[in-house]
Amino acid sequence: MKTIVISNRKGGSAKTTTAVNIASGLAKKGSVLLLDLDTQGHASIGVGCEPSEELGVHSIFEGKTLSETFIPSVHDNLTLSPALALFDVYEYSDLRGVLKSRFKREQIADFFDYCVIDTPPTFDAILKNSLEVADAVVVPFVPHHLGVVAVGQMMRAVYQSAKDVGRELADVSILPVMYNPHIVEHRESLAKVKTSFGEEKLLSPIGVDIKLAQQFESGSPIILDEKRSKGMKDYKRCIEELLKRL
Ligand SMILES: Nc1ncnc2c1ncn2[C@@H]1O[C@H](COP(=O)(O)OP(=O)(O)OP(=O)(O)O)[C@@H](O)[C@H]1O
Ligand SMILES: [Mg+2]
Repeated sequence: MKTIVISNRKGGSAKTTTAVNIASGLAKKGSVLLLDLDTQGHASIGVGCEPSEELGVHSIFEGKTLSETFIPSVHDNLTLSPALALFDVYEYSDLRGVLKSRFKREQIADFFDYCVIDTPPTFDAILKNSLEVADAVVVPFVPHHLGVVAVGQMMRAVYQSAKDVGRELADVSILPVMYNPHIVEHRESLAKVKTSFGEEKLLSPIGVDIKLAQQFESGSPIILDEKRSKGMKDYKRCIEELLKRL
């Protein structure tokens, strides 16, 4: 099983949009587990479910197993562990390594080809638990100055996590989102990211497509659409590029 964590501490940078489309796209290639680790529950909504009030992925921090939170077949080949809506990470003092130990104890890797994790826009125990199990980290960013700053902050978080737990560094790729090549600032921000972090880390950009916002109403990611759209095309290419890196 390959685990892909979608992460950026900056809010509104298309983490959830990327997570649900990558998860649903990968589900055409193998069995996928989607973990909605953001209590906002937007990834759950994105695949046609609701964040739970009783049992969700965050319940593992309260002693539940990961498997008992699964909602199988939310779409073909896609299992969801929904967000636990009211989970408060700050009520717990030590949450280190919980997700990693659940993966191991429940042999999650034997049941899925891919695990995709949507994370909250914060640097807390939830994000740290996610980074601990990452084979790959995708950092979506809106190409503005603060977007570029946030990529740097996220890169440091990934390095720090690997150092803390003494594990190999996950493969990090940077995904420009809501990119418009006609906007000078977008082009310049992309150039800065290339210079600062290396061209090889960059995935091809995702353009603006209102269908990517509308998909949350139907609970069906546009990558599953019958009709081809720009957003669908961009995320399909993103998945192909990502698979080459895994
Ligand atoms: N390529 C795109 N084109 C148009 N709208 C987009 C695109 N990507 C994302 N959006 C919209 O931008 C908003 C933010 O996206 P999303 O919720 O995926 O970000 P996020 O990083 O998960 O946010 P948060 O930090 O709150 O978790 C949403 O309304 C989403 O529908
Ligand atoms: Mg989100």
